[in-house]
Amino acid sequence: MILPIFAYGQPVLKKRAEEITPDFPGLSELIEAMFKTMYHANGVGLAAPQIGKSIRLFVVDATPFAEDEPECQDFVQVFINPEIIEQTGEKWKFNEGCLSIPGIREDIDRKPTILVRYHDENFEYFEEEFSGRIARVIQHEYDHLEGKLFTDHISSLKKTLLKGKLNDISKGRVNVDYKMKFNLK
Ligand code: NI
Repeated sequence: MILPIFAYGQPVLKKRAEEITPDFPGLSELIEAMFKTMYHANGVGLAAPQIGKSIRLFVVDATPFAEDEPECQDFVQVFINPEIIEQTGEKWKFNEGCLSIPGIREDIDRKPTILVRYHDENFEYFEEEFSGRIARVIQHEYDHLEGKLFTDHISSLKKTLLKGKLNDISKGRVNVDYKMKFNLK
């Protein structure tokens, strides 16, 4: 099932998401639907708050980056209750976008290497180091679980410049070729 993606302005995107347990109802169907929704929208990552569920779960498929970073090929992973426990290295800029904020991309500074603890879809526990674009996608999706968006990392001047566009998105005034859910009053 392809789910509507919650747009900038939806309160669920500003909330810190809750941990889940292995008996979370419909978990495997939810994960399947999240992958389908992400692929349909040509995304490389999708976090549960983006489909309106405030739980600590996101999915990643970094394959579209494989041309520049071969290790991204077939990097398909489910992250449940993740924790980024360390971020190291010199910050680097990468042009980020977000399925909840269509039509806006900005260069965002983040550290290149991260140490992550997480559970996969079978609730197996991992502690793994990631770097480069895979780390970048994880950092972006992890932010969603903390109620943060990439626009929270840009300067206040830039944010002021984007204000009109962001307001348009929140009101549904945006051209997008996948289904979205707006916070219309
Ligand atoms: Ni995003």
